[in-house]
Amino acid sequence: MASMEASELAMAVKSLAICVEVVVGSDEAMEHDVDQDGEAQDIPMLVDDLTDSAELNASWPYPTVWPEPKQQAAKRSRPFDKRLAIDNGPPCCLSGAAPVSGAFPGGQAVDLTAPLELLVVDVENCNRCHIASKLDRLSNTWGPAVRSIAPESLSELRAAGAHVELYGADEAPYGAPNRRGGAGQTGSASASPDQRPLARRRNVVDPCRLLVQRPGCNSEVLMVARKSVTRCVGRTSAAGPLPPADRVAQSLGRELLAHLSKQAALAWRFGGAAAAAVLSAPLLFWEVLASRREPACVELVLYTPWAAQGSLWDVLEAVAKGEGSNHLGTTSSVPAARRWSPEQIAAVLFPPPAPPADWPRVGRLIQALADLLAKLEAAGVIEVDLKLQNVVVDEYDNLRVIDPEGTQVLPLPLAAPANPNTPCEPTTPSVSCLDWRLLPVPVDVRTTAYAPPEMLYEDFVRFQSRGGRIRHQSDLSLTRSAGFLALARSGNLQGVIAAGNARQSYACVASHAWLFGASLEGALGMMRGCLGNRAGQPGYRGAGAVDEWWLRELGALCVRCMAPRPCDRPRMEEICAQVQRIRHCAPVR
Ligand SMILES: Nc1ncnc2c1ncn2[C@@H]1O[C@H](COP(=O)(O)OP(=O)(O)O)[C@@H](O)[C@H]1O
Ligand SMILES: [Mg+2]
Repeated sequence: MASMEASELAMAVKSLAICVEVVVGSDEAMEHDVDQDGEAQDIPMLVDDLTDSAELNASWPYPTVWPEPKQQAAKRSRPFDKRLAIDNGPPCCLSGAAPVSGAFPGGQAVDLTAPLELLVVDVENCNRCHIASKLDRLSNTWGPAVRSIAPESLSELRAAGAHVELYGADEAPYGAPNRRGGAGQTGSASASPDQRPLARRRNVVDPCRLLVQRPGCNSEVLMVARKSVTRCVGRTSAAGPLPPADRVAQSLGRELLAHLSKQAALAWRFGGAAAAAVLSAPLLFWEVLASRREPACVELVLYTPWAAQGSLWDVLEAVAKGEGSNHLGTTSSVPAARRWSPEQIAAVLFPPPAPPADWPRVGRLIQALADLLAKLEAAGVIEVDLKLQNVVVDEYDNLRVIDPEGTQVLPLPLAAPANPNTPCEPTTPSVSCLDWRLLPVPVDVRTTAYAPPEMLYEDFVRFQSRGGRIRHQSDLSLTRSAGFLALARSGNLQGVIAAGNARQSYACVASHAWLFGASLEGALGMMRGCLGNRAGQPGYRGAGAVDEWWLRELGALCVRCMAPRPCDRPRMEEICAQVQRIRHCAPVR
């Protein structure tokens, strides 16, 4: 018994080492970034001394260590350590050259006269090196099995003699001359005057067919989402320094490395890479290319399995429009005959309400989303940029999260609560709720409209300190967001949030509830519009009572999820149960 405890303790200590590595390691991209609304963001770092409080929880099948609430409180009052933001550690690649300037700590010089193609090769090598060192750290602690989560480099595959072909949705070779580049699900990357080093371009996602034939093997054909992430390297300014390849690689590769952390956490929690791939879209391949769309830009291309129905947002929109099913039927047309039957006359005089949308399916999908989030939480995965557009739906209505750029991974032993039923009882703003769901992680990427108050705190304070004047488009989206309004309404909330992470913006497990509620609320607004259009067509009296019932019930759930204080928000399991109740009670007609 004693020896068992010793070995468990050893595992626990080991897992704490992982935790520190995971949290720090996932922050390898240390730049100041720009969010989806074009807003500059400070990237705080999470550093917590986790090694001094260890206890074992025999009921959990994994080495479980968690801080006692009091110790946890002491740690939570410490902010992210911004020193890490500039301490990039040794450069991963390009040996020998001197750093260009202090602006790129840890980076290496690149010959300004070298062609872009050489930079591309350097960036590819840097990313390969970053992936390898990340995998080393992950597998040192979690075992070699996590190596199977690593995506393959297409250029490495080609170098090993494999034959690779890529076709667009129109069946023409992807990127062939005279062919319009991929339509892109996220907008086109038109030429932009912003040529500052590392200027971002919008990501472009295209459905493609990828054919891979390895030497001596049959060819595999895969339907994939081809996502390209682009950074301009600032070449147009002859005088300005070209960002070092290491720096470009880090800026581009954040999604790649965040993917490794997330998939490793899920694999560890749920029993392997295959199980992780059920919850979160696996990354199959990657490569680095010189951008075809814009000169002096480098693209990181990521390939994930294509989900047949697109994003959850797309599916809800299709449901509301009645696409892809006969569910909504068609409006009754006015009969051509001169003599109408009494029923026909009645149908014109007293038209029926529009038939309801396929709400049972919507209910199933929403419940599946809450269930998926509960599983991610159990593995300590926090989807900081959670929204329905970042969840895809396959042909069997299975959901998977995509777009891990903003994903953070909690130290795993903290992911499972010692006692999941521990009540959450905040007392004063300065002593906020002691709960594992409130442990702060950094906010690298966010969608302002859906972000909870804790993710907007610093922007809120900055905006107030500037006298509350709207200067940019980003100020508009900030001030219109529900998270900002909640902060503006309540000084008490400002105190609670400020105490949550020493006055720095943060996300936490409880942010999921708000993000779920806010993004579902957005989708319900969209669905209401689609259903209203349909109900306004001739032949219908207006929206039916069933539509109204579902919109009202789901809307009320969203409001409950968007409790301003993180500790007041329902747990994901509770949300799941609420959706189940709504499904159970739903009127049929
Ligand atoms: N694997 C996929 N299957 C189906 N659609 C996808 C897939 N990946 C991305 N998409 C579509 O592309 C959109 C943008 O993808 P995402 O990875 O979120 O890019 P971004 O970083 O620009 O937000 C998604 O909302 C979804 O509609
Ligand atoms: Mg996205």
